[in-house]
Amino acid sequence: MRYADELSQGAASGPVSPTREGGEHGSSRRSFIRSTSAGVTSVALGVGVAAAAGPAAGAAESHRPATARRAAVPLAVTPACSGHETPESIEGPLFKPNSPARGDLITPGIRGVRLDLSGVVYDTSCKPLPETLIEFWQCDENGDYDTSGFSLRGHQYTDSRGAYLLRTIVPRDYWGRWGQRAPHIHTQVQASGGPVLVTQLYFPDDTQAYGRDFAALNAADRLLNRACTINLTGPADGRYTGTFHFVITTKV
Ligand SMILES: [Fe+2]
Repeated sequence: MRYADELSQGAASGPVSPTREGGEHGSSRRSFIRSTSAGVTSVALGVGVAAAAGPAAGAAESHRPATARRAAVPLAVTPACSGHETPESIEGPLFKPNSPARGDLITPGIRGVRLDLSGVVYDTSCKPLPETLIEFWQCDENGDYDTSGFSLRGHQYTDSRGAYLLRTIVPRDYWGRWGQRAPHIHTQVQASGGPVLVTQLYFPDDTQAYGRDFAALNAADRLLNRACTINLTGPADGRYTGTFHFVITTKV
């Protein structure tokens, strides 16, 4: 079951559950840690998903020892890791623990502008972090979150090079408790035994999807942090390719 409109969220008009942005953190941090524990047996699967990531594998290339092979790889214009922690954001009320272990969220019935997002999770010394848990959840092409199931929700673990790959769609904007929300992807990132980074990823102003003005949407979103903007290329062959590298602390 999906809920279409959270404008009634908090109103006394009926038992409508929110499907769009709210504000409280609630107990989800503990829930996420619980899901981490429950998901340990999924490490092998998660690593397998990420290991299959071509773009992610390329993203990790710059952290291999200097060799003649590496010398042939052009250096990135922007350093992959600044050492500064990825900024936090609110979690919202729609996180659900125990999501499926999967990096591919394109399940039957999912429509929208395709996005392949990859990157590396680093610690603050820019060391890649293997077997780091990443949870993703987002709304669909209509701006709706699946609150009864797990559509567009999933968790995975970074591979041996700290890389991940997410196959999904560009989410739609929506109007919620926090006003106009620009398209964003919710995420939580946690190295084993470390604290949970809760944040949201955004899209560049020139993104083209659903006929929406991303520049105006980004400008109107009071939660948006430009430091969490995905580096996007495309669209090509009907899909965007994006990269985003996380930097997290591993100390509680
Ligand atoms: Fe949201």
